[in-house]
Formats: sequence, structure tokens, C-alpha cells
Amino acid sequence: MAKEADDKLSKIVSLAKRRGFVFQSSEIYGGLSGMWDYGPLGAELVHNIKDLWWKHFVYEEENMYPLQTTTIMPEAVWKASGHLEGFADPMVSCEKCKRRFRKDQVGEMCPECGGAFGEEKLFNLLFPLSMGSTEGGGDKAYLRGEVAQGMFVNFKNVLDTMRPTLPFGIAQIGKAYRNEIAPRDFLFRVREFDLMEFEYFVKEEEWKEYFTKWKDRMWEWIDRVGIARESVHELEVGENDRAHYSKRTVDFEFDYPFGRKELYGLAYRTDYDLQKHMAASGVDLHYTDPVSGEKFVPHVIEPTFGLGRTLLAVLLSAYEEDELGGEKRLVLKLKPALAPVKAAIFPLLRNKPELWSKAREVFVQIKKEIPQVVWDDNGNIGKRYRRQDEIGTPSCVTIDFQTLEEDTVTVRNRDTGEQERVKVGDLVAHLKKSLS
Ligand code: GAP
Repeated sequence: MAKEADDKLSKIVSLAKRRGFVFQSSEIYGGLSGMWDYGPLGAELVHNIKDLWWKHFVYEEENMYPLQTTTIMPEAVWKASGHLEGFADPMVSCEKCKRRFRKDQVGEMCPECGGAFGEEKLFNLLFPLSMGSTEGGGDKAYLRGEVAQGMFVNFKNVLDTMRPTLPFGIAQIGKAYRNEIAPRDFLFRVREFDLMEFEYFVKEEEWKEYFTKWKDRMWEWIDRVGIARESVHELEVGENDRAHYSKRTVDFEFDYPFGRKELYGLAYRTDYDLQKHMAASGVDLHYTDPVSGEKFVPHVIEPTFGLGRTLLAVLLSAYEEDELGGEKRLVLKLKPALAPVKAAIFPLLRNKPELWSKAREVFVQIKKEIPQVVWDDNGNIGKRYRRQDEIGTPSCVTIDFQTLEEDTVTVRNRDTGEQERVKVGDLVAHLKKSLS
């Protein structure tokens, strides 16, 4: 079983590299540990996940305000938020080979050389930076360890410009950086990653109601993005394991091939962050109820989603090896909304000019309406189907001799392999329907 699981991860890693989903960062220079680049298909998949998340959590809600804040923030922010003190993992270093490990990931001896460990220390995960060119070093700043702080420090700006009424949320998708001691397991633990998260501001007495609401919406998201529900499990995080700002946390854990580990988190951050920023900045961060005139600091529910972990869980859930028409194949059963390529267009034969130019005409016509289509006239049709199956393309369209006579094409379904004849004039509508 463990071997099977390992195999599945290595199959995903190799597919991701072979088909242009994920590459190691700066690979031609030997790569950078804990950093990954998204290739042409991966970048499109990332884009589709972000779009779907935005639709689910921003557009389909009434009171969500988007934000895009800088990834570098001054030391004062991280001091006030408690990250300078509390955002750290226990670390041990080997006295012999000097390698560093997360304490919770090793036994009593160094797994590399068998050496003894020195004293356990707390290692802060924030990346420090020096900004500006002042002599003796510039102003101290940090790459953000979470995007949430961008929302808290702009709370007053959003109140003043948008006049929202409680409950409301501030949502953001963007990069976060953590100097992880031991990046590992492909996209699971990395040093630079995209976070999709929102802070939902409520009256203190309503926090439980909204905690439940967002937990339910998170499950709906899991279905919508195509992560197998049975591989996701809620974990009530104990007091000692919660982040310094949280009074209740539920983790959504996923059964990765390397174990059951965190996919998403849902935290009740209370009014911790706003209170801390109000005290440190001296700026009033109270909200005034427009009806009662009561002034108070709202409490916060925060659902948070790592994008790389989503992509990994999506690939693991979609990956299948099955048999179609007596032939073994590898298929990514991605939700159509996520598929990087929505349809592939094939002329049956490359060397028949009439067929080829009709196929180009169909391709150009579809591309105007559905831009994520590809052209492939290379090799036999079976091979072309296989190539599209393994990147999750929902439909393949073949232009053949019948097309020239009847103006119809074959549309082949990725999951069932079934083919149907569709009029060229109806093709865009037909493809769009299968994408919804
Ligand atoms: N604002 C709350 C927050 O940042 P977190 O649990 O520290 O909470 C949020 O991180 C999410 O980011 C996690 O649920 C996970 O999906 C993802 N994540 C955290 N550390 C990560 C890492 N080193 N590599 C990839 N994803 C990570």
C-alpha cells in the first residue's frame, strides 16, 4: 500500500514535468529547493483554480471585497501581528553534518548521517529583507508569511471607501513566503506559494454561526474543484497546536500519498489582529453599527486555501489508469472548469489539403469563442486521444471525410470515450454545454 501510494506521487510528479504542469524552479542551475514553477498547462490550471475560487467565494457572495496588497510589509506589521514571535517551527541541527530538520519530522538521531542533535530551537519562518539604500542597511521588512495581514492593515481603508455593513469579507489571492526548514513532498511544503483566503468580519456573538456557514461552503468548494470528498477529513485542532491568533481551528486534511495532512484551514481569529494593529499603529479600527451607532471591533472567521496543495489534491483525485476500448490509458478526470485545454481539434489526416483546411476553419471558429483549444495533426487519432486524456481535455473534435459532405464532426468524450456527430454550426454551443 505504502509503495502504491509512493508510486502514485511519483507518477503525478513525472506527468506534471513531462506534460508541462510543474517544473523545478531555476532547474538549469540545479534547482532551488522548496520552489516550483508552473509550466504552460500548470499556469492555466492555476488560473482556472483561482477563477473558480473567486467565483465561489467572492462573486457568489454578497458582501465580499477584493484586495490586492503588497507581498513586502514592514517589520511593524509582523511585530504587531505576533508573527515575529509566534510564527516559528521547532528545529534541531545535526552536530556532525550541520543539516537542519523540523523537530516533528525526525527521531532521536540525524536521518542523514546518524549524528546527534544539538539543542532544540525555534526557527522563525518569515523571510527578512532590507529595503532602500540607507547606509548601514535599509528599513527592515519581511516577505509576507500570510496574505491575511494585508486585509487587517487595510481594514479602515475598506470601511472608509466601501462603507460595508457587517457581516462582510475581505478576500485576496496572492503569494506568501515561508522559510520552511524542510520543504518536501512536491507542492505540499514549499517556500513560496499562492494563498487564497478571506477574513470574514462578524459581531462577536455571531462567530459560531459563521464558522459553520463557512465550513459548509468549504465542503461545497471541495466538491466543486473535484477533490474526492472521501479523502478529506475535518480535524479539530487542539489548543496547543493552534496558531497564536486562533481560538478555534478546524483543518481540512487530505489523504496524500505521504499521509493524511493539512489541505485547508478554518480559524476563528477573534478580534486579535485588529486589536493588535490598533494598539501598535494608534489608528482607530472600530466599526460603527449604522443602525444602533454602537462602536466595536469585529471578530474574524478565516477560511484559508493553499493553491499548490489544491492543485496537488486535484491532480491526485483526477488521476486514473483505466482501460478504454481494450486499451490501457492514463487519464486526468479534471472538472471541465479546471481543464487547461477545453477541446482539441484534429484533422483526421494531415496530408489531405481539403480536410486540413476545413479543420483549420473549424479550429479558428471555435477558438474565437473558447480560447483554450488546441490543434493537433500529429500521429494517429488514437495517440492524439491519449495525449489529450492525460492532460484532462474534456472533448476531442475530429474533422473527417464525412465533415466535407455533411458539415458534421465527431466529438469524443474523455471519460466515456463515446463519440457523437455534431453539426459544425452547433459545435460551440455543444462544447460550451459540456464545460458548464
Ligand atoms: N492566514 C492563515 C494561514 O496562513 P496557515 O494554516 O498557516 O494559515 C494556510 O496556511 C494554508 O496555506 C494551509 O492550509 C495550506 O493550504 C497552505 N500552506 C501553508 N504552508 C504551506 C507551505 N509551506 N507550502 C505550501 N502550502 C502551504
